[in-house]
Amino acid sequence: MMSRPQLLFFIGKGGVGKSTTSALSSVRLADAGHQTLLVSMDPAHNQRDLFEQDFGEKPKKIDAHLMVKEVDSDFWIEKYLKDAQTQITKTYQYESAFNLQNYFNVLQFSPGLEEYALLLAFEHIVHRFENHEYIVFDMAPTALTLRFFSLPFITLIWLEELLKLRTRIYEKKEIISKIKIGKIEIEQDKVKDKLGALIQNYNHLGQHFLSDAVQICLVMNNDTLSLSEARRIREKLSAIGITIKKVVVNKLCQDEETSAIDKVFGDQEIFRLPLVPGGLVGHARLKEYLDLISEDFLDL
Ligand SMILES: Nc1ncnc2c1ncn2[C@@H]1O[C@H](COP(=O)(O)OP(=O)(O)OP(=O)(O)O)[C@@H](O)[C@H]1O
Ligand SMILES: [Mg+2]
Repeated sequence: MMSRPQLLFFIGKGGVGKSTTSALSSVRLADAGHQTLLVSMDPAHNQRDLFEQDFGEKPKKIDAHLMVKEVDSDFWIEKYLKDAQTQITKTYQYESAFNLQNYFNVLQFSPGLEEYALLLAFEHIVHRFENHEYIVFDMAPTALTLRFFSLPFITLIWLEELLKLRTRIYEKKEIISKIKIGKIEIEQDKVKDKLGALIQNYNHLGQHFLSDAVQICLVMNNDTLSLSEARRIREKLSAIGITIKKVVVNKLCQDEETSAIDKVFGDQEIFRLPLVPGGLVGHARLKEYLDLISEDFLDL
């Protein structure tokens, strides 16, 4: 049985058609009667232009089975910082030597913040829409998206080291208090507990990325740069254990041959989508296009 919800991620080089193909598959799924949520994870938010209407954090119902929402990264960055602030204040309330305010002041400039914020948004969405059949993610171009997927795994390496360090510090602390006071007061180490909880959480996220709930749809065009980038994406994802589920070649002319792509991605089923003169804008045009192309669009 397929895990629910199925999470479809449309990834690829800038401009290849991630937004268009994620919209197409969402419309196709919804028309087939599946409860579908389309999520724009790219700060450029092209779904507004595709559906010719405004979207925001609040999901908007645009068809019987289709809702669309945008992830507002500023909102999630703020939430991430606020959560971190609350956690740190709680954990370190007795450690007055530590100047927390200074720490908060630099935290907002910490690298990787946008990716952590996206990950936080992702967790909330999956939790909030756990009864949906499909959640389709329209992702940002390659760099940000690769960092997003590798974040749980990188964070785990970092957290495991911190936990080791904290364990060593704590052992020392106990020795000191034994010498000084003569008896050890058994107290829990809140920092260690928090690190443990974070490790559990990122492990869970990483495992989710590797599970059969996730379908990565790699979109490309039939040109050298787009193919080279697609190949690098596959390598980078494979290094963290994530496999490409679907390969989409978009914007093909009639009878255009794709031997270079076939050679590289030949072991996978390749879905071919024709170029439409003038582009594809509007819900009605997306539907028309879906009627034109084959029934088995992405096997959805
Ligand atoms: N099959 C197609 N036929 C014609 N035009 C297309 C097709 N697919 C996409 N386009 C056009 O190509 C451009 C890029 O498409 P789209 O915005 O979907 O790509 P993207 O990968 O999401 O881009 P970005 O990386 O900027 O988010 C748009 O102008 C879109 O209308
Ligand atoms: Mg896009």
